[in-house]
Amino acid sequence: MRKKIVAGNWKMNKTLEEGQSLTSEVKHMAEDELPGDVQLILCPPFIHLSALHGMLKGSPIGLGAQNCSEQESGAYTGETSVAMLQSVGVKYVILGHSERREQFKESNELLAKKLDVALKQGLVPIFCCGEPLEIREREAQDAYVQKQIEESLFHLSKEDVSKIIVAYEPIWAIGTGKTASAEQAQEMHAVIRKQIASKYGQDVADAISILYGGSVKPDNAREIFAGEDVDGGLIGGASLKSRDFIDIAKSFS
Ligand code: 13P
Repeated sequence: MRKKIVAGNWKMNKTLEEGQSLTSEVKHMAEDELPGDVQLILCPPFIHLSALHGMLKGSPIGLGAQNCSEQESGAYTGETSVAMLQSVGVKYVILGHSERREQFKESNELLAKKLDVALKQGLVPIFCCGEPLEIREREAQDAYVQKQIEESLFHLSKEDVSKIIVAYEPIWAIGTGKTASAEQAQEMHAVIRKQIASKYGQDVADAISILYGGSVKPDNAREIFAGEDVDGGLIGGASLKSRDFIDIAKSFS
């Protein structure tokens, strides 16, 4: 049985006070309303991690960062290391989000290094992949995503790759209000799982959770999550409202 996961990527949103209110609401609603088999993860900005860890102590909700350095320590002004993240209770890290790929020029090669450093120190990477609109329009999305996976993941051992969560986020669906259809999401998730199976074996591929991200809302989550290879969601805008985030997570039940 694969884990069902709903992760909220807050991106660069919420002051500390706003983030604390949102966390408190999510925590209480999850306790009251959510069945125990959905793993919730909150990925706030770095600066709120420590405070939110304090609020989430004893709660099953996981804490994730939105990025980390590929370096372990040293003269890298403005960067945040895996060890620092762990020291404030972080368990997960989003790597390769399309916004980091596009705005900060993160390459597949750099992401391979970030994956190595995160895995070496025991953080669970949420590895993002996904194609831009022009690639989808040319129907070249499968090869595009497969290249991202091959170049960033395929140097990993079977043991390490088994620890990763994959998130498929078609760029044209992020923050646009335009979601991939449930069929498009399922199709790509199946392509990804097949690719992982061809390299690491079906048992490894079957155990990896693959999340969908891109304009997931309470009113479309159930349909998207119904895909047999869709194991949850990486939620942007809708994770900033506790009611919406919890309703999305409830779509699994
Ligand atoms: P939206 O849900 O706002 O489209 O963002 C998706 C995303 O990028 C999550 O990482």
